[in-house]
Amino acid sequence: MDSILVTGNGPLNGDIPIAGAKNACLTLMPATLLSEEPLTLTNAPRLSDIRTMTLLLQSLGAEVTALQEGKVLAMSSHNLTSQRAEYDIVRKMRASILVLGPLLARFGYAEVSLPGGCAIGARPVDLHLKAMEAMGAEMELRDGYVHAKAPSGGLRGGEFEFPFVSVGATENALMAATLAKGTTVLKNAAREPEIVDLAECLQKMGAQIEGAGTSTLTIQGVDRLGGATHGVVTDRIELGTYMLAPAICGGEVTCLGGRISLLEAFCEKLDAAGISVEETEKGLKVACRNGRVKAVDVTTEPFPGFPTDLQAQMMALMCTAEGTSVLEEKIFENRFMHAPELMRMGAKIDVQGGHATVTGVERLKGAPVMATDLRASVSLILAGLAAEGETMVNRVYHLDRGYENVEEKLGALGAKIERVQGQ
Ligand code: UD1
Repeated sequence: MDSILVTGNGPLNGDIPIAGAKNACLTLMPATLLSEEPLTLTNAPRLSDIRTMTLLLQSLGAEVTALQEGKVLAMSSHNLTSQRAEYDIVRKMRASILVLGPLLARFGYAEVSLPGGCAIGARPVDLHLKAMEAMGAEMELRDGYVHAKAPSGGLRGGEFEFPFVSVGATENALMAATLAKGTTVLKNAAREPEIVDLAECLQKMGAQIEGAGTSTLTIQGVDRLGGATHGVVTDRIELGTYMLAPAICGGEVTCLGGRISLLEAFCEKLDAAGISVEETEKGLKVACRNGRVKAVDVTTEPFPGFPTDLQAQMMALMCTAEGTSVLEEKIFENRFMHAPELMRMGAKIDVQGGHATVTGVERLKGAPVMATDLRASVSLILAGLAAEGETMVNRVYHLDRGYENVEEKLGALGAKIERVQGQ
């Protein structure tokens, strides 16, 4: 398994390109299963999770061709051969569950292995199943697989209120509802930019959807969907991660294509910490206003709140802030696995249940650390960039699931970072 070696070496300066959103792409790809006609995605990120979804779709008989070095994905599901998503692929990535809604809606039947994914809490899929039950589906859990069956005549419109916000369950239910007979109303739906992006793509394919970006989605089912070409929205998590690089190391960095509207709550916290964020034609220009950043408290919430996927990276910033900050994780239990690793670098962190109290120290010290999940991996790289000496981040395979060319992108800003090939 590869490692990343980072040496703290001062300010970072320059422009950094931001890719299309992994999480948007992972729900846009299964949307191909809804239609016989081609779906082409542009601005796709080049990541191992995208390759896993490619393999999954291909295992169902879909054609997926990566063009322009993977930036364009040309897909067609005119000749699907299977409605069963096998354990061997699904276990690698939780987002595999997103094939369930489209398969069920188009074929009236689907079998999907229960997913695995990052080790950040229990992460069940009950809400995905309940939302589809509200459209008349019958669900059975057998041999580790969800066996889903639509009533004869196909899914029918229904009303479902999510007891709490789930991004994936909203996406799955939204895709299923596009082909259900009649009207589906999804209440307390997720409002993330990735949901809006999915809805826009489905609309291009002919779906009738109202309310994307609000907490109520109303979908008028249609008989069939057509083809479309769609550009994947900017990755707001990659954006936020790289915005933190100059915040932690000093310097001035422009994140190309970034928009404040993708990350308002996050930008407000950066402002309170003393970091300036300016929206320009090119993207978001980030710089430290003066001296050491100030401690700020953060609570993770569904969009438009502070994203859980930026909590680990924000903690890396708070490790050297002036004062004490409390980070509260409200989306996933067990999402502070980066804390003990940061402590190995000299951070002062006290984790109690869903709260982490971070007391800023002057400077972190490089150390060998272990990447435990995707966002934790990158938080350790950020911490290493600001630390004294060398930090070896081991077990970085999670990183490649969500960040393309980290070494190249940060290296171009002046960071001393290199990949060490595993045995
Ligand atoms: C998506 C993102 C992930 C992000 C998360 C929250 C993708 C591929 N992943 O994950 O990066 O961290 O949103 O912004 O888009 N839950 C249930 N039952 C369910 C579904 C979810 O209890 O059926 C719980 C989860 O365990 C979690 C909470 O709901 O505690 C929110 O999870 P959810 O929004 O569904 O996350 P994902 O869609 O898996």
